Amino acid sequence: MSSVKKYILESLKDQKEIFGDILYEKSINIEVKERQEIKSDRWHVAEKTEVKTDNNLFMEDFQKADNLASLNDMIKECQKCSLGKTRKSFVFGVGNPNADIMLIGEAPGADEDEQGIPFVGRAGKLLTDILIAINLQRDEVYIANIVKCRPPKNRNPLPEEMETCMPYLHKQIELVKPKVILCLGLVASNALLKNKSTLTGLRGNVYELNDIKVMATYHPAALLRNPNWKKGCWEDVKKFRKLYDELVARN
Ligand code: URA
Repeated sequence: MSSVKKYILESLKDQKEIFGDILYEKSINIEVKERQEIKSDRWHVAEKTEVKTDNNLFMEDFQKADNLASLNDMIKECQKCSLGKTRKSFVFGVGNPNADIMLIGEAPGADEDEQGIPFVGRAGKLLTDILIAINLQRDEVYIANIVKCRPPKNRNPLPEEMETCMPYLHKQIELVKPKVILCLGLVASNALLKNKSTLTGLRGNVYELNDIKVMATYHPAALLRNPNWKKGCWEDVKKFRKLYDELVARN
């Protein structure tokens, strides 16, 4: 790829990180087409899986899980969307199961798919540094993604994929019971907060989800592409840390 083309693509990615799909009619059309393909694919899967195997019955019980390990056991063979067919690993989540602080990303990338652990690639290393900058060790917090399986070619997860996977994340949140959640990037923020705001509109605000305070910042992968955003991220995480300290002091 020529360096000019690469530069243009990176810039478009940056814009998408802040504004989502609003700016890109074309990208919406591509996703609609992809979604239609996946829909027909899913019919195929539904037909194939109509006869309930023990595993399917087991999976439907996941709401009854009373700890993270048994939840993982119940859902790790999930085939509810087409990502189940292409993944190498089901990337459940990692960290302190009783963490006060939870971080939520978008979906596993190639490194995470290989290792079965969220945020272990370059973006993950930056995330570890961001945590250290606010006096947190990675193993003190709990880290999970909206979608548990890697979307092919690192595309954004489709709305259907996020919707299908979201009950797993909500169950993880219910079990971990964090006091605060930091969403990493626009996709994770919009999915968790069920809105279509831009990242600029979300950053700096505190939202509430079942009594848990939620904030949003840049995705570490976006910071790798655009280091100018690191300053803004630093402001966000300082606010996030302050919010957490205030909550702890109050209890
Ligand atoms: N990006 C994410 O959103 N999650 C990961 O686990 C890795 C990269």
